[in-house]
Amino acid sequence: MNADLRLGLAAWLEWCAAAGVDSSLDDRSLGVYAPVAAPPADPAPPPFSPRAPAPAQPSLLTPEGDRVRTAAALAQGCRSLGELARVLEAFEGCSLKDTANSLCFADGSGDARVMLVGEAPGAEEDRQGRPFCGPSGRLLDRMLGTIGLDRRHVWITNMIYWRPPGNRTPTPAEIALCQPFLERQIELLRPGYIVFLGGIAARALLNRKEGITRLRGQEFAYGGIPVLAMFHPAYLLRQPLQKKLAWRDLVTLRKALEERGLFPATAIDSP
Ligand code: URA
Repeated sequence: MNADLRLGLAAWLEWCAAAGVDSSLDDRSLGVYAPVAAPPADPAPPPFSPRAPAPAQPSLLTPEGDRVRTAAALAQGCRSLGELARVLEAFEGCSLKDTANSLCFADGSGDARVMLVGEAPGAEEDRQGRPFCGPSGRLLDRMLGTIGLDRRHVWITNMIYWRPPGNRTPTPAEIALCQPFLERQIELLRPGYIVFLGGIAARALLNRKEGITRLRGQEFAYGGIPVLAMFHPAYLLRQPLQKKLAWRDLVTLRKALEERGLFPATAIDSP
């Protein structure tokens, strides 16, 4: 390889890294240095007619709908959390699996009465195959510690089980595909209390449209189980002033657990 090409490639890779690109999606080159042909002109829109059929609505009769139904059937067939993890490991329906290094299923204790649901694995979680083991996990551990809890007392999982490339926000289709597995996880664990960290799981499972800033601090119910929504630790790392509100939510959580007799006997008594 000649020196100019090597320098050019190094600069390009540096540029990609600065832009947050940290994984390749395809083995084939897109030919980004080749001249790009002009896209074909858009076809003329059909003439307006009052009798024209209404545009098709998104329907469950699509390959995506099929994949969600398959996911739901597989999840419902699982009789234990271990079986659910094995089924997810073998599941080929979610394209996030193609770019991820590992399945990131859950961490903590299968006897826990408190379940924490995050959003999606990050880079470190993808390397280790364990939710919340990177920087936001370290903050989460400290947050739990302030109210006397640690990982022995909770079950930690995510809405999405494979890392989205470059940590992008999961798409609605990816959320819909992973949702049956999360729902089954809740049925199998039967927690007494659920905490949603960040807005993704809260919006999907509670069927809400608001962002986490509006949902946080409030108690909801999912299938009769009380649920608290809180800021995600990754957000708190970026916006440390919001830790004040997160602290209030942690106090709410501790009180809610104590009132329901769910505060673990082995947890530290006072925050
Ligand atoms: N953020 C999440 O939502 N989950 C993880 O496991 C790590 C970071």
